[in-house]
Amino acid sequence: RLDDIRAAALQKTMTTAPKALVAKEKLVFGHTFSDHMLTVEWTAKGGWEVPQIKEYGPLSLDPSCSVFHYAFECFEGLKAYRDAQGKVRLFRPDKNMERMNQSVERLHLPQFDGEQVIECIKELVRTDERWVPEGRGYSLYIRPTVIATENTLGVHRANSALLYVITSPCGPYFPTGFKAISLYCDETNVRAWPGGVGNRKMGANYAASVAPQVEAEKKGYQQVLWTIGEDHELMEVGTMNLFVHWRNEAGEEELVTPPLDGTILPGVTRDSVLELTRGWGEFKVSERKINMKQIARASDEGRLLEIFGAGTACVVTPVSRIHFKGKDYAVPLDPSSPESQAGPVAGRIYKALMDIQYGDVPSKWSVPI
Ligand code: COI
Repeated sequence: RLDDIRAAALQKTMTTAPKALVAKEKLVFGHTFSDHMLTVEWTAKGGWEVPQIKEYGPLSLDPSCSVFHYAFECFEGLKAYRDAQGKVRLFRPDKNMERMNQSVERLHLPQFDGEQVIECIKELVRTDERWVPEGRGYSLYIRPTVIATENTLGVHRANSALLYVITSPCGPYFPTGFKAISLYCDETNVRAWPGGVGNRKMGANYAASVAPQVEAEKKGYQQVLWTIGEDHELMEVGTMNLFVHWRNEAGEEELVTPPLDGTILPGVTRDSVLELTRGWGEFKVSERKINMKQIARASDEGRLLEIFGAGTACVVTPVSRIHFKGKDYAVPLDPSSPESQAGPVAGRIYKALMDIQYGDVPSKWSVPI
């Protein structure tokens, strides 16, 4: 038993029945899983157990287990990429560990040394290296998860927990190039609120987003545009952070994303987009509130340049129109590039981030396993 997770103590039991790889063209996001998983058990009395890499397979949990009743759960998402030399790299894993420690803190689950878990994840990816597909857009999605495992119905601090990591090979989100999405601005449901947990990556935030998502689909839109308050301040789009590129009321060219005020998920891609575009120094880059009325007016006045979502799963997703109070507002895409539906800034960010993720452009963000 350990006071914290120690990668040096890791024990490994290899599967005796390795699975057949799935042809990469057939991969559907989150459907295929590699041969092994990482598990680390924790108890309040004994602390962290020795990390284990073992055969991927079902967990055995009692029906009373607190994760099933009170959504005592948080997760992360990051990817491993194969570079041109065949080496495998992670993208900013320290940011995921930092955020996971913030999520477990809010759930009063145990925190851990992120560096040590990164070392364990590297070993898991090395163990399942054949599952990291080759080619731009292809990657091994890594899903770290922490659940409370106590077998009691009392709502109180958990006395036992399990940290586990599974991995899933995946292809490009849009295999045929960018497909811009339509958004339905939801005026009824709120994804997160001041003092809530919108800035923590908890499963409960995602479970509660599904019914509004289905409603938006029924109305003929692909994803929900989450807003809050009487002014319909923009928050997020689907499961992604939101960026607006426009000419603002003062006539300045600006890229805006809502600020990390506690209601917005601190996305790793969000942070990377901000640092990247600030580095370009070509337009103003702001973290500030922006509301739907401003977007509607900008669309009517031709000042809207691009809107896109940003997240690990798809990197960037262009938006083509937004429904708000009975009207569809058009968002421009790239007129010079009919085959790609991304606007020029989204397209450039996509390429710049992939260049780093696939090791073609050296960066401290890309961490070889
Ligand atoms: C992302 O990476 O954009 C996500 O949040 C997706 C995940 C919830 C499947």
